[in-house]
Amino acid sequence: MNKLSIKDVDIAGKRVFIRVDFNVPLKDGKVEDDTRIRASLPTIEYAIDKNARIILASHLGRPKGERVEKYSLLPVAEHLAELLKKPVAFADDCVGPPGEKVEAMNDGDVLLVENLRFHKEEEANDEEFAKQLAGLCDLYVNDAFGAAHRAHASTVGITKFVSVAAAGLLMQKELEYLGKVITNPEHPFVAILGGAKVSDKIPVIEALIERGVDRLLIGGAMAYTFLKAEGFTVGKSLVEDEMLDTAREIKKRVEEKGIELLLPTDHQVVDSYEPIKGGKVLAKTIPIEFTNLGHAGMDIGVETVEHFSRALADAKTIIWNGPMGVFEEPPFDQGTIGIARAVAEAADRGAIVIVGGGDSVAAVSKAGVADHITHISTGGGATLEFLAGKELPGVAALTDKK
Ligand code: 3PG
Repeated sequence: MNKLSIKDVDIAGKRVFIRVDFNVPLKDGKVEDDTRIRASLPTIEYAIDKNARIILASHLGRPKGERVEKYSLLPVAEHLAELLKKPVAFADDCVGPPGEKVEAMNDGDVLLVENLRFHKEEEANDEEFAKQLAGLCDLYVNDAFGAAHRAHASTVGITKFVSVAAAGLLMQKELEYLGKVITNPEHPFVAILGGAKVSDKIPVIEALIERGVDRLLIGGAMAYTFLKAEGFTVGKSLVEDEMLDTAREIKKRVEEKGIELLLPTDHQVVDSYEPIKGGKVLAKTIPIEFTNLGHAGMDIGVETVEHFSRALADAKTIIWNGPMGVFEEPPFDQGTIGIARAVAEAADRGAIVIVGGGDSVAAVSKAGVADHITHISTGGGATLEFLAGKELPGVAALTDKK
């Protein structure tokens, strides 16, 4: 990476503004999944060890420029204090009041400021607001890889008003692992893509084809668009009809390049969407062709899990993004959990395995294999944009190494 790292800067006794991505799910006023908070602990702990005065800032949800209590970062401050085993002060605004709190900080103290998106100026990348944020600190560090695809005041604007804008340790790790996948993957290189929409994944699929992926495994609802494009009946499964031609073009391109495209060969289906909403699950496994046109595919079947797992057996690099089914509605989490186990086995055999996207990350945790994965990316949209070869504004804005 040709960007300055927090480790390249003397932060002792300095006020360091660290932009983190603490956009985590909350339930009943508590943090429900702290993966993203834990992911930034190395940066925060490093800054504490170096006796910096740490000002943390993040967005949470999409409050659209207004103060919305359910998006307050206060529960995150409490959770972070437990993880760090030290007090974390909280300022109930990200500009104005934190000024006084920052004045009162001692070396090694940690302060979290309230949700940046309570101000519409954050997403507007407003210059005056960026200047106010910069006024809180001597140095700026961006550890929010998950927000690096956003050109906002706290990710881009602020960098104009600070002497140094360095990458945090999580940011560095994300760029290192994801960068290796897109520039220099070891072969066989296998990509597993899932989720609802083909349209969300097109730029990534195109980039993977260009980067020499050897096998493309497609599950989730997006597989139904590919199956329908091949002429299979898919009943009431989710299909993006406007993407059928694109799916055919992708199939043609991968064939020309000698890339294997694997689609599900069996499915977990329901008679209709209604029963599962009422709590009664009518799942059954069917082979590739839907003979009952009322069925909707909800997950890949057992045979597909085996077939996909075999395709991972000799892989040296694996990238996985997106669930294989309706992960949040058991038993339609089984395909995704099966793939989580298979990628973990591949990692145990020495493959580099990168997992990104909320549901795939949740699946590796649920399957108890998170520790086996080489790198779990904290980014959603940021990971997809990076893998698609786009420049992330939050990274571009950081200070270059001399
Ligand atoms: C994410 O959850 O992917 C990041 O925190 C960015 O959030 P956003 O999509 O609301 O900008």
